[in-house]
Amino acid sequence: MKRTLIVANWKMHLNTHEASLLVKRLNDRIPAHRTIEVVLAPSLLVLQPLSLEIDRRKFRLAAQNAYTKDAGAFTGEVSFTMLRDLVHYSIIGHSERRIYFKESLEDVRDKVQAAVRNGIAPILCVGETKQERAAGETSRLIHDQVTTALSNLTPEEVENVVIAYEPVWAISTFGGEIAKPTDIKRVLDLIRHNVTELYGASTAEQMRLLYGGSVTADTAPGYLEIEGCDGALVGSASLNYQQFADIVEGAYRVNHRQEA
Ligand code: PGA
Repeated sequence: MKRTLIVANWKMHLNTHEASLLVKRLNDRIPAHRTIEVVLAPSLLVLQPLSLEIDRRKFRLAAQNAYTKDAGAFTGEVSFTMLRDLVHYSIIGHSERRIYFKESLEDVRDKVQAAVRNGIAPILCVGETKQERAAGETSRLIHDQVTTALSNLTPEEVENVVIAYEPVWAISTFGGEIAKPTDIKRVLDLIRHNVTELYGASTAEQMRLLYGGSVTADTAPGYLEIEGCDGALVGSASLNYQQFADIVEGAYRVNHRQEA
């Protein structure tokens, strides 16, 4: 059984004290669910103190980024090797990193490989901009992002990669247009198809695919009901404890309905 993955991307928000407060509030509201995995992605600085505070039956940690090399003279960088005992996951290739920090397809590929080499499961983000969508380039772009990012991995390694489809135009801080479930399903199917062609159907079937982009407590159940959608990557709404706890609760209700 694939557990539904709900990921909180706190981006560059919350210092250690604020993060600790949010975790306490989430801990009061979110029970341990057999069918759901809740992952928190705080800033790098907060990972260590938070790792001592979280209830590990309920929460796992993710990094938001790290460098491609394991160690060396790379001033200002942190490696996946340094994070390996702290986190289960790392977000890689988020559109903010691709756009603001000019991460190329090859940078993302090397980070995916570095994470896997260090036993950290990548949460690889892919998605097209509004202009690319308008130009009819979505399929080609998603294909290039997915195939390049996975190209140095074995099929067994690919099974543990999570891919989040995050159309840039749907991310709250880039415009926040509401994506239609039919559009999301089309791209999730395309991603599975791309992975099937490269690594076979069973690998593609094992992988978890998420949706991200303006997910809130109100919209989450609709997205999680999409066939082939195994979870959500949540930005702004994850900074609000009530919203985020309600998203997890919504995921639980969707799973319960699907099991019934
Ligand atoms: P959002 O962000 O939920 O605020 O749209 C999602 C993301 O950027 O991962």
